[in-house]
Amino acid sequence: MSQDGAASGTTEETTRRYYESADVDAFYDAVWGGDDIHTGIYAHPEEPIADASRRTVDRLADRLVDRLGPGRSVLDLGSGYGGTARHLAARFGCTVVALNLSEAQNVRHRRTNAERGLDGHIDVVTGSFHDIPYGDGRFDAVCSLEAFCHSDDRERVLREAARVLKPGGVLSFTDLMAAEDAPDRTLRPVVSRLGVDALATPAFYLRELTRLGLDHADFEDHSDQLPVHYDRLTEETGRREAELRGVISSDYVDHLLGNLPLWAAAARSRQLRWGIFSGRRSA
Ligand SMILES: C[S@@+](CC[C@H](N)C(=O)[O-])C[C@H]1O[C@@H](n2cnc3c(N)ncnc32)[C@H](O)[C@@H]1O
Repeated sequence: MSQDGAASGTTEETTRRYYESADVDAFYDAVWGGDDIHTGIYAHPEEPIADASRRTVDRLADRLVDRLGPGRSVLDLGSGYGGTARHLAARFGCTVVALNLSEAQNVRHRRTNAERGLDGHIDVVTGSFHDIPYGDGRFDAVCSLEAFCHSDDRERVLREAARVLKPGGVLSFTDLMAAEDAPDRTLRPVVSRLGVDALATPAFYLRELTRLGLDHADFEDHSDQLPVHYDRLTEETGRREAELRGVISSDYVDHLLGNLPLWAAAARSRQLRWGIFSGRRSA
């Protein structure tokens, strides 16, 4: 993480290139279903990844619920293919601004919104959560699912997120994190694809939410879902290996088959953490 408050354009460029590679795009589409790309909350270990991932959005929405509804505006930071934005708009009738770095994802996001008749509710904007292009106090709620792990300046991201909240507005997000006592070097091979030096920890986020003056800063710990999720991804990739080799380069399939078990092992050894944070801006 940069110490001088300047988020690194290099990290953003690495992230953009990662999400815009044809292999990564095809993998997310084939294995997650093209809506949500984040850790699921599984009702049972064999549940489809897409169903569990959707449950995560619902659990996050529980945190925002008094700020959702017709006339309310929500900002989704790092919105991917738009699964969260569409679900919130369809279920609650709110409007959503979906801010996301990858224009390739945003093109697909806009197309899906139009196909599902939700384009009038969702504004897909290309940009970075390090510099949110909106004035102070604009949104009733700000959310993000598993995107801050890509930041090299998470203090700045949270400062930006809190800045654009209306008084009484709620920020809620999930993220992949390291355990407080996980040595950086142990996780380095696992997090290498993210292009960041280190992951945040739950204590870091809780401290920052409090420092920013958000009330009721809270962490709902779902770290026990991580081994289930990465086991599911590993199994699914293995089971569909032949089919995936038809749409993804063989090198990338080989990389996935080697890398996903590392994530599962790190999660099982409790070096990774994951869950839902929330905090409310004072009214
Ligand atoms: C794991 S994906 C999650 C996508 C989406 N939130 C979801 O749950 O389906 C991470 C997302 O963060 C976005 N992202 C990473 N860095 C970003 C930045 N600096 N500003 C905006 N979006 C960013 C990527 O484009 C990618 O879509």
